[in-house]
Amino acid sequence: MSAPDPQLALARYRAHAAGYDASAARTMPLRRRTIAKLALQPGETVLDVACGTGLSLPLLREAVGEDGRIVGVELSPDMLALARARCAREGWRNVTLIEGACEAAAIPGPVDAVLFNYTHDVLRSPAALARILAATRPGARVAVAGMKLAPWWLAPVNVLVRAQARPYMTTLEGLRSPWDLLEGHLASFARESVLFGTGYIGWGRVR
Ligand SMILES: C[S@@+](CC[C@H](N)C(=O)[O-])C[C@H]1O[C@@H](n2cnc3c(N)ncnc32)[C@H](O)[C@@H]1O
Repeated sequence: MSAPDPQLALARYRAHAAGYDASAARTMPLRRRTIAKLALQPGETVLDVACGTGLSLPLLREAVGEDGRIVGVELSPDMLALARARCAREGWRNVTLIEGACEAAAIPGPVDAVLFNYTHDVLRSPAALARILAATRPGARVAVAGMKLAPWWLAPVNVLVRAQARPYMTTLEGLRSPWDLLEGHLASFARESVLFGTGYIGWGRVR
């Protein structure tokens, strides 16, 4: 199976950007649960990996407060423009948004916590993971959520999962256990299946 393709992701998210927030509305409860797993404290620094249009920013900002810091990295200028507009509208000054691929971005660290919310392409890129984890403090908290294939006894459901996933990721490689490369970097990791086995939420700590 193929590796993630950033050029294809750029083209896809150019088309998705305008309608993205509406399409992600149904995943908001899972986003809230995932962010809660980070147990963010006021004053901390959190990295929002592939932050997209910034749908997580209000929740992260609420958790780290005025004195905390949020760093978002995002490949797609079209998605990031919406995140920037959100920050400008809210007047947030403690959010730093970086345009570029996680594989090459200069991420200002060290960060206390990292959010991977629906970031399959990044999770399947060893170079991106290495770069992100190099920006973390020892023991930093990590939370991850996204789509996955259902167990074998629900195999027919996976036709639908693949069809739903395809527009939002450029590779289906690793869709059975999307967290496994990340888990290799962590000292501890726990996970639960959600959405009848077609999604997951995971949390843990960096070494
Ligand atoms: C499904 S969206 C999720 C956006 C956001 N995390 C959220 O929860 O709404 C996936 C995002 O990953 C971004 N992306 C894909 N590959 C990337 C990479 N290598 N580096 C940074 N962002 C990437 C896409 O541009 C897209 O905005």
